[in-house]
Amino acid sequence: MGCHRIGHSYACVFTVSPDSNGVPLCSVGIGSDAVAVHAETVRKLQCDEQNGHRALHILQEERRKQAQRSVLISCQVTTNEKKFLKYLSQHGDINKFFFYESYGLYAVVEFSSSESVASLLESSVIPSVSHECVVPFKSRLLWLRNHSLVDSGGQTSGLVCQAQTTTPINELIHRISTQESIEQQMMSLTEASQLTEENSRLRFLVCSLLEDIATAYFPECTITPFGSSVNGFGKLGCDLDMFLNLDNIKGRNMRLPKSGLSLEYQMKRANSERAVTQSILSVIGECVDQFGPGCVGVQKILNARCPLVRFSHQPSGFQCDLTANNRVAMKSTELLYLYGGLDARVRHLVFSVRCWARVHGITSSIPGAWITNFSLTMMVLFFLQRRNPPIIPTLDQLQQLAGPADKSIIDGNDCTFVSDFAKVQLQSNTETLEQLLSAFFEFYATFNFSRLSINIRKGKEQNKPEMSPLHILNPFETSLNISKNVNVTQLDRFVALCQESSWLSQQSRTLNPKKSTSGKNTAMPWGLAALLLPLQVDGIKGRKKKTRELASERIKSLLVSLKKKDSPTS
Ligand code: GTP
Ligand code: MG
Repeated sequence: MGCHRIGHSYACVFTVSPDSNGVPLCSVGIGSDAVAVHAETVRKLQCDEQNGHRALHILQEERRKQAQRSVLISCQVTTNEKKFLKYLSQHGDINKFFFYESYGLYAVVEFSSSESVASLLESSVIPSVSHECVVPFKSRLLWLRNHSLVDSGGQTSGLVCQAQTTTPINELIHRISTQESIEQQMMSLTEASQLTEENSRLRFLVCSLLEDIATAYFPECTITPFGSSVNGFGKLGCDLDMFLNLDNIKGRNMRLPKSGLSLEYQMKRANSERAVTQSILSVIGECVDQFGPGCVGVQKILNARCPLVRFSHQPSGFQCDLTANNRVAMKSTELLYLYGGLDARVRHLVFSVRCWARVHGITSSIPGAWITNFSLTMMVLFFLQRRNPPIIPTLDQLQQLAGPADKSIIDGNDCTFVSDFAKVQLQSNTETLEQLLSAFFEFYATFNFSRLSINIRKGKEQNKPEMSPLHILNPFETSLNISKNVNVTQLDRFVALCQESSWLSQQSRTLNPKKSTSGKNTAMPWGLAALLLPLQVDGIKGRKKKTRELASERIKSLLVSLKKKDSPTS
């Protein structure tokens, strides 16, 4: 099987050659409309791939710096954009700004230099509230109070606001129904759901605001987002997982002199690393609760397997989970980011499957016996490793490609894998997104969950080491099952929905758009949209019954034909 570099991996599907404008054209023998459609498809997929080629730590560092130069300002709907920007520009050049709505109108403003932020904060005043007192904690979350910046007449100023929430499902179904192919439907769903540039900036800004609180105690600490906020699979409205990293402080221990005098910090001792994490999170959680502007509903969940502080950040609308000493989760984030960037089909399939799972209640935002998005993503990755030829490599293969800088051992677990996209060679699998979606449902409709576990490290099914209904190996702590929480009922529902969706995705009424007499799509749900409509459990039972009936019919006719063969007359 021929191998070739990523970045061209999808081109083989349509045999692309660039036209005079550098826009890829399709050279397969199909009608001109279809050529244009496929050319656009290929262009989008390649664009996506290119975006995914930067290593995550580079992207994180860039976003972190932008966030440190940014402020979040609560405005009034009547704010005059021009006057507002002119006023702020007194403190220096503005790189980027945008407005959004979340229980009020907000502006995110990024300056070219941090001195501008310092100057702006210097000029800001502590509010004088007549009947209340304030905690005098100065942050980069501000109110715009100057009335001369507001348009007269009390009318809204027509500011363009960037959406920070996802498209309602009915609207999404309607939108994708007008697409020409299932492939385009899946890409359109990704486009409508994925985090926007602005939403991503806002996530880093909220981390940066929190970091300002934490650095009061630990000046060298950082707070960075992890999970779906940065792994490439996040949708608008997903939670904000934050990682408080104290490694920069601990790192100084490495530089102890070999001889002569030296000084050591006197520090409080604790029984375990976990106890240290709990005490730090407890104090920071308390500060967030008492001093953090806009932080409400703070809960300290310190006895969880991974201790955390949960709260709502009202100005952004994000549900936040702050954890510490959680470097393995950071590694899983990097791994998913890498997989998502290797081949554009990975992200499109994950977005479609996650959306499908959510609308059918397979996943939920409430913790419980449901399959989590993280587990579901692992299932998609495993499925893609099981294609012939595989679409993505196994984690063991990625580990073999790692260089010295990629070496990572966390709590005795080897978390090493390559971070350089260019080192990964992909096999030339040419399956379309439409084929993959249908094959995904079929794969898990018939998967032997009672005996086998899902293991993306090996890319192979293995016998289950324990009896949980669903066993998905934690890729970096291989003795753990990331889906231990899933009960039989939830797994059965998942399998039943896969069976129903597999059946539906092969029906011609699902596969073809409904056309009006003029030949245009009617926007009646078809393809992926049809799979997002409610599937009745009765329907599933009915289908199972029908399948059983069909099977028993087949057995009956087989027996009849065998009998006939055995009979002396035949
Ligand atoms: P959303 O549902 O969109 O929030 O997806 P998510 O990937 O952010 O999942 P979640 O917020 O539940 O968890 C955040 C991150 O923590 C994940 O991306 C993983 O990196 C890690 N994580 C979540 N669950 C587990 C688990 O069971 N085991 C391990 N080792 N890591 C986990
Ligand atoms: Mg999350």
